[in-house]
Amino acid sequence: MSHPIHYPEGNVLLRNLNKSYPVISHGSGVHLFDETGKRYFDASGGALVTTLGHGHPELADRVAAQMKKVAYVNGMQFTSRPMEALAANLAKKASSLGLDRVSLLASGSEAIEAAIKFARQLWVDRGFPSKHKLITRTPGYHGNTLYALSASGRPHYKKVYGPLLSQVLTVSAPYGYRCPVVQSNDIEEMHAEYHEKGAEFYLKELETLIEHEGADTISAFLLEPVSGSSTGAWVPPKGYLHRVQELCRKHEILVIADEVMCGAGRTGKFFASEHFDFKPDLLVMGKGLNAGLMPVAAVLVKKTDVDTMKRSSGGFLHAQTYMQTPSMAATALSVIEYMDEHQVLQKAEVVSDHWLSELKSHLHALPFVGSITGIGHMAGIEFVENKASKAPFPIAKKFAQKFVQHAQDQGLVIWPNYGQADGVNGDLVILGPSLEMSMQEADECVDLLKRAILSFSL
Ligand SMILES: Cc1ncc(COP(=O)(O)O)c(C=O)c1O
Repeated sequence: MSHPIHYPEGNVLLRNLNKSYPVISHGSGVHLFDETGKRYFDASGGALVTTLGHGHPELADRVAAQMKKVAYVNGMQFTSRPMEALAANLAKKASSLGLDRVSLLASGSEAIEAAIKFARQLWVDRGFPSKHKLITRTPGYHGNTLYALSASGRPHYKKVYGPLLSQVLTVSAPYGYRCPVVQSNDIEEMHAEYHEKGAEFYLKELETLIEHEGADTISAFLLEPVSGSSTGAWVPPKGYLHRVQELCRKHEILVIADEVMCGAGRTGKFFASEHFDFKPDLLVMGKGLNAGLMPVAAVLVKKTDVDTMKRSSGGFLHAQTYMQTPSMAATALSVIEYMDEHQVLQKAEVVSDHWLSELKSHLHALPFVGSITGIGHMAGIEFVENKASKAPFPIAKKFAQKFVQHAQDQGLVIWPNYGQADGVNGDLVILGPSLEMSMQEADECVDLLKRAILSFSL
């Protein structure tokens, strides 16, 4: 039995030097267990990673079988059967999106950077070298490596690293709770107004930016089809993504869908883009693609674009040590085969409908709860100091961090974000439990969260 680790104990460079870290010994389904025997309901799987919960010996066995045959070869020199099978499987799943070539990398941030490089190289190879700028959205998150961080609309993450970061162009991310053209505070009316007026508002901003910068300088628009922790799981307003696609095609700007958090079944469909008849030019996956077994991320692109590269540069000018690694490919392949074999998405739908509606009906009236929204097994709850005015807590109060710690102490694991309301203030939590969560566990999750809110004081 061991106690939680607190800096300076041990040799791990702990992320937060003022916090205690319970030592997790094992997990099973939606639950984690620490070495003191305490049980946690893992409602977020870290930052929405473990789409299939914890302790899956069947998946581990499939990956181990590949590791015993050959764990690693470099993607510059070899391919392998699991890599070929994974790419074929993903291409089949993405056939309605028209994406059919896959590169595997080791993290969401790396894959985002690879996608941005791919878009840029494509314009050079097509004969338009002036197209280099990237448009992203605020609030938004695309990773923590330097360019992915540059592309992320999180001012507070950039404070220290500002001098190292690159310039990108930004527009507002769809965020119904704080959308300037939405007046109502009533949950139903707010959503209705957002879907009625939101697309027009956000598209105008994008169009103005493109005209101001000049489409001939812009390479790509990077966006999350469903925003994850940055806005608290707000879906885009009706028509938005389709119109983004049309506008970007008109101006010859590539669209990169960041499905690192919202992809691989998290929203109820394998790709979140499928909900919105959205066909991005490139798509990035991570998290749910590996379900937490080992780091695996992917970039999906079109063969026609790869053909352009073959004719000009000869290929995509990018490589990393763990590109196309067989053990990583086997991990992602076992995850998606398991999901198909066990009809995970088909079974998840009824639970997610129940879970989301219970969250809304049980939590919305509670203190501090401003907004609850979500899709599939992904939900966001925004906390405010004043529910009538939507005024956030001052950031110095550290509401989200303290609330998440309080929930964890009570045995509920959720993921915080802050700063989203105005770039400084704002507190939300995001939930992303296992897609295999049962009805009973969905009720347990809502109940634990309700108790955590009711027993919390700042
Ligand atoms: C939408 C999105 N994109 C990219 C990333 C970066 O992924 P990683 O942390 O694996 O580098 C994240 C991580 O949270 C994410 O949520």
